[in-house]
Amino acid sequence: MSYILVTGGTGYIGSHMVVKLIEAGYSPVIFDNFSNSKRTVLDRIEKITGKRPPLVVGDIRDEKALEDLFTQYKIDSVINFAGRKAVGESESDPLLYFSYNVEGTIVLLRVMKKFNVKEFIFSSSATVYGDPGYDEFDESTPLAPINNYGLSKWMIEEVLRKLFRAEPDWSIAILRYFNPVGAHESGLIGEDPNGIPNNLMPFISQVAVGRRPCLKVFGNDYETRDGTGARDYIHVEDLADGHLDALRVLNHKPQLITVNLGTGSNTTVLELVKAFEKMSGRNIPYEICPRRPGDKAAYWTNPTLAHELLGWTAKRGIEKMCEDTWRWQMMNPNGYPDE
Ligand code: WQD
Repeated sequence: MSYILVTGGTGYIGSHMVVKLIEAGYSPVIFDNFSNSKRTVLDRIEKITGKRPPLVVGDIRDEKALEDLFTQYKIDSVINFAGRKAVGESESDPLLYFSYNVEGTIVLLRVMKKFNVKEFIFSSSATVYGDPGYDEFDESTPLAPINNYGLSKWMIEEVLRKLFRAEPDWSIAILRYFNPVGAHESGLIGEDPNGIPNNLMPFISQVAVGRRPCLKVFGNDYETRDGTGARDYIHVEDLADGHLDALRVLNHKPQLITVNLGTGSNTTVLELVKAFEKMSGRNIPYEICPRRPGDKAAYWTNPTLAHELLGWTAKRGIEKMCEDTWRWQMMNPNGYPDE
């Protein structure tokens, strides 16, 4: 029996991917250190799918733990979600980001090579683009990350490009996510940030459920429809579908593909607030605050290449993103229960 290794498989995107893999007939094995997730996610995955994937607890920088996993399980492909992803933390603790994200991925790739496993899907990010001076990105937009989180993603992409140049028998997909939001329709798994949410959607849903008193809107003087920041929000289920399509396209054929995963549309902060209020029936109090350093006014992707290469397009709109987020938040007002 062969497995798909999902590192970070109990995290927000990873857990939705594990559910999709099981439902598509694959056998995922999860490798996770629970640095940004909870064990209870495994129970939720089992409740949704009726199957409990094998779990190995470990850190992707631990070569021995990975070698033991590759010895125990016949791995066909690897989807790498494990990584630190808070922009602010990456600025205050760069060593942690370059160690965990970059060093960790290099260790993982080295072990894959040792076991002759050459199919790899990497969770990259739109933050590798930085601010090119325009708002609609595509895969040819220059790479110029402006924070250490984006820089760590760019560094890993460079490692993959150089690896493929030296060893063209690898089968690699670099998937650059725009703004993942939403939750599984069951409401059993969703985004559960540690502490105060950095990101907009989880903050809005925590205000709606009464966990936070008020949303801070970081700036309303941008050149956008209503002056607040605009982003390309993509439903986490669409994102997971994109990974399934990438897996099918890779199909162990030697190649390196790089694809933006976004909807091609954009939504401002206040538009998202209004959509969430309409869908939830809750009032979202907010106050206008100064701009957040490092923020770009607006960006979104041209989704053409994802459709051409993967046959993929996002199917879920903002209303569905709000509906599924709200169901998760109502069912889990304080997130996943503590262990
Ligand atoms: C969206 C908009 C804020 C919070 C980041 C990472 C990216 C990815 C997604 C990991 C902006 C505004 C936000 C709040 C606000 N992360 N905002 N009040 O910054 O586009 O992307 O998260 O993969 O890599 O860079 O997402 O949700 O933080 O912000 O007004 O409390 O909401 O100014 O305009 P961002 P975000």
